[in-house]
Order: sequence, then structure tokens, then C-alpha cells
Amino acid sequence: MPGGGAGLVATSDVNRVEAPVTIKAYLMCAFAAFGGIFFGYDSGYINGVLGMNYVIHKYTGLPYSDSNNNTVWAIPSWKKSLIVSILSAGTFFGALIAGDLADFTGRRTTIIIGCFIFIVGVILQTASTTYKLLVPGRLVAGFGVGFVSAIIILYMSEISPRKVRGALVSGYQFCITLGILLASCVDYGTQNRLDTGSYRIPIALQMLWAIILGTGLFLLPESPRYFVKRGKLDQAANVLSRLRGHPIDSEYIQQELAEIVANHEYELQVIPQGSYFNSWMNCFRGSLWRPNSNLRRTILGTSLQMMQQWTGINFIFYFGTTFFETLGTISNPFLISLITTLVNVCSTPISFWTIERFGRRPLLIWGALGMLICEFIVAIVGVTDGQDKKAVRAMISFICIYIFFFASTWGPGAWVVIGEIFPLPIRSRGVGLSTASNWLWNCVSGYCFP
Ligand code: BGC
Repeated sequence: MPGGGAGLVATSDVNRVEAPVTIKAYLMCAFAAFGGIFFGYDSGYINGVLGMNYVIHKYTGLPYSDSNNNTVWAIPSWKKSLIVSILSAGTFFGALIAGDLADFTGRRTTIIIGCFIFIVGVILQTASTTYKLLVPGRLVAGFGVGFVSAIIILYMSEISPRKVRGALVSGYQFCITLGILLASCVDYGTQNRLDTGSYRIPIALQMLWAIILGTGLFLLPESPRYFVKRGKLDQAANVLSRLRGHPIDSEYIQQELAEIVANHEYELQVIPQGSYFNSWMNCFRGSLWRPNSNLRRTILGTSLQMMQQWTGINFIFYFGTTFFETLGTISNPFLISLITTLVNVCSTPISFWTIERFGRRPLLIWGALGMLICEFIVAIVGVTDGQDKKAVRAMISFICIYIFFFASTWGPGAWVVIGEIFPLPIRSRGVGLSTASNWLWNCVSGYCFP
């Protein structure tokens, strides 16, 4: 069907041979993972910024002479909670809206719009000298992150070759961890400045990620599944050929396209689209007792993301610096925070292999067990001997092991699964809803932990 969708024959051969993937094609799919840097950096930088002397002085009006007094020298907890969690409130709505938009304007365009909104939010935050601008700035940036975080997963799952899809989406999680690490390093570099550069540098730097991602995506092709959904088979064939690095009329491209079309046609028979309201309602249709009903898929996606947040991982990344400070036995809490983020980065790549080798479910089960054991040990040590130096060291070691379990299992696993479980007619909304659930619980935990 070169140049046209007319002669396309649907295939039901699920064991067909996939196109051998060229390096260029891999790189194109992997580039989208860069969106993770954006997500990670934005959620990570605030932890260090709120612990900086200049920021505490500026935002509370306390004199520097109070800086040795641990009981007063801090941004009040409720304000800290507000600043941290307002971002997730924005991302919650951003992810929901983006799920809608991605079906109308395309996956790629929605991400690019997200980058623009994010830049506006970053400009507001950079310009801020009081809470009044910082908080709305984080809310607006949150919308942008919501767009990007929901739709990148959708985009990556749709453009990646099936056999490496899990590994490539795990690459997104890896970029989240890199983003958190980068944020820690930048915070570490500016923490001792006694001018606005201390917080403006880490905040403003984020614009760079948005510019790189937006420009990169501008040059990348749209998702072929989006074109199939819109009935534009010529364009679908064209982008698929770019993504796989094979000519449009090659057997590989024709077969893969035929499979996408066949799947979509079948799914449309099972899930008729109807009105706008109906297309949302489709996410909640079907029996609760049938494992493959839409309702079950939506519950699975949203609760997986909820559970991922309930692991409590963001306590470490949002409040680690302040928590280690309050233990009172650690001389450099920034450094410990840096180490925890490094453990996060180094453990994630293990999942590139394990997620394909052992499958999603076993990974999630074993990861949960590992985290559970570590959390119990940290809690027991904390309540029995929490002030002793050796006990604190043991706690930190187990926190690191806990991060290892999270980073190699639930961190990537939850994202990979939500990219895979929804049929095309409800995919963008299903992924949007699941991502919104991640941010909702992220926001709740950000607000409750301090
Ligand atoms: C979670 C984030 C978390 C990060 C840590 C992500 O998968 O959704 O909330 O901060 O992992 O690496």
C-alpha cells in the first residue's frame, strides 16, 4: 500500500516477525524518555531549595542569626506542604486534560503544548520573591508536567517496537531518576549562595529541559496509532516507516500497520465511541468481575499508580534533606540526599532487563515485598534507637536498599503497565486517568508527610 491505505489487509497473526530495529529507530523512541528528566527535575529541586538558608531567610523574614536554631529556622510546615503539593495538584488536572487533548491534536502536539505551559510556570517561579508568585508558578508548571508525564508514556508505548517496549518505557523512569539527581546536584551547587541565584538557578534551569524536549519532539514523528485512530492510514504508514527505518512498502511496515488497524477495528466493535461524554464513560464500562473489562483496566491503572505513591518513595525525595537534618546526628544532610538519589539512578537500569525477562507482575510482587521489609526495619530502628549514630547509619542503609527495590521494580513497572493495558479507543484517557491518580496521591503524600 505505498502511499495509500486502500489496499491494507488486516492481520491476526500475532506471532509475526517484527521489523529489525535500526539504531536510529531506537534512538528516536528513546528520545521521548527525555521527558522523564523534566518530571524528575521538577519534583526533585524543591526539596533542596526549601532547605536553603537564603530561601528560609527570604521567605520567612527570619534573621540569619537564627540559622543555628533548628526549632525556628525552617519554612513553616504548612507552607512547605503547599509549595510542594501544589505542583501535583496542577499535574493532576493537566494529566486529565491532556488525556483528552491527545486524541484531538495528537500525542506529540500535546506534549509540545505541555512544554510551553511549563515554561510559563517556570518563568513565574523564577521571577518570584514571595509565596504569592511561587505557588501559582508551581501550579502552572504542574499543568505542563501533567501534560508531559501522561502523554509521554502513551507516545512511547505507541511508537516503541513491542519486544523492547518495557525496556524503553523503563528508560523514561531512568530519566526521572536522572532528573531528580540533576536537581540534587544543582541544589548542592547553589545551596550556599546568599542571593536569589540560590533558588533562581535551579528553577530557571528547568526551561532548558522543556526547550530540548519540545524541539526534539517537533522533529520526531507523531504516533502511528493516533493516525490510525483518526483514519489517516497514509500518514500512519509514513510515520511507521520513519520510526522503524524501513520503506513504506516493505513487508514489515505493511504487516505492523495491518496489525494496528485490525486491533483498532476489533476494539471499536467492542467499544463503540459515540459522543464525547460516552467516550469518557467507556473507561468505566464492563463488569467488575471480568478481568479484561474497561472498568477493571481503569481500576488497575489508577490503583497501580496510587500504590506506587503509597510506597512512600517521595518522602525521601521531597523531604529527605529536612528529615536527615532533624535526625540531628548527620553533618551533611544534602550529601545523604544526593546519595539516595544516586542509588535511585543506579538501580533503575536493572529493570531494563528484568522487566522483559521476568515479566511485569513478578517484578511488582517481589519489589513490594522487598520494600515492605526495609520499611519495617527503618520504622523499628527509628522508634527504638532513633537518636543513636549507629542506628541512624543502619536506617540510612535500609532506606537505600528500599530505594533500590523501588527503583528496580515499582518505579518503572507502574509506568510500563499503564502504557500497555488500555485498548486504543480508551487508551489516552486511561493513561491520563492513571497518571492523574499518580499525581493525586503524590499531592496527598506531599501534603501529609511534613
Ligand atoms: C514516581 C515519582 C517518584 C520517582 C522516583 C516515579 O516513578 O512516579 O513520584 O518521584 O519515580 O524515582
